[in-house]
Amino acid sequence: MKVNQAEFIISAVGPSQYPPDALPEIALAGRSNVGKSSLINRMIQRKNLARTSSKPGKTQQLNYYKINSDLFFVDLPGYGYAQVSKSKREIWGKFIEQYLMHHEYLKLVLLIIDLRHPPSKDDQIMYDWLKHNGVPMCVVTTKADKITKGQWQKHVKIVRETLRMEKHERLVLFSSELGVGKDELWEIIEQEISK
Ligand code: GTP
Ligand code: MG
Repeated sequence: MKVNQAEFIISAVGPSQYPPDALPEIALAGRSNVGKSSLINRMIQRKNLARTSSKPGKTQQLNYYKINSDLFFVDLPGYGYAQVSKSKREIWGKFIEQYLMHHEYLKLVLLIIDLRHPPSKDDQIMYDWLKHNGVPMCVVTTKADKITKGQWQKHVKIVRETLRMEKHERLVLFSSELGVGKDELWEIIEQEISK
């Protein structure tokens, strides 16, 4: 997709704040600090439209980014960040679940995983939950630049095995730093939103 325009629309804390536009939505889920916001920036080739931070827990609402008049990227709060209080984590969990369950324009969830490490318990729960609820998803393993190219496939295999992914299920190897995987991911997104 050619991105002509990308703009931040709103940080929504509840359904009443979701934008009224009937556009397809592509949501990004994953652990805190895994690189969700950076992935959005790479996809649209902007340095810092989606705010990133080396400190986990930066994104705490549903952040909507409108891409052309084609779609929204919805940056979800990261999960699994221990420093956040339990009650706050529960609120986020409910909030994310409510969005994922009831959102009619949601076309695809990108489940972002750190390629360097086996998926965490939280990643496995998220993957199983999405699958169980029939939410279309694509696993994206990011930060590929942090390991040598020769190791990539070994790590992909560990991710696939840990999540117990089936052969036909999609996985895109990604690096926001290098831009690896960007074109492949756009193809998948375009395919989903044209359905
Ligand atoms: P939360 O909003 O806290 O949930 O985090 P996030 O998942 O949005 O992560 P974010 O994009 O803010 O990135 C976290 C840190 O990882 C930042 O310091 C990024 O620069 C770094 N980072 C993200 N993606 C990559 C990548 O592909 N390669 C490298 N080397 N660093 C990355
Ligand atoms: Mg973020």
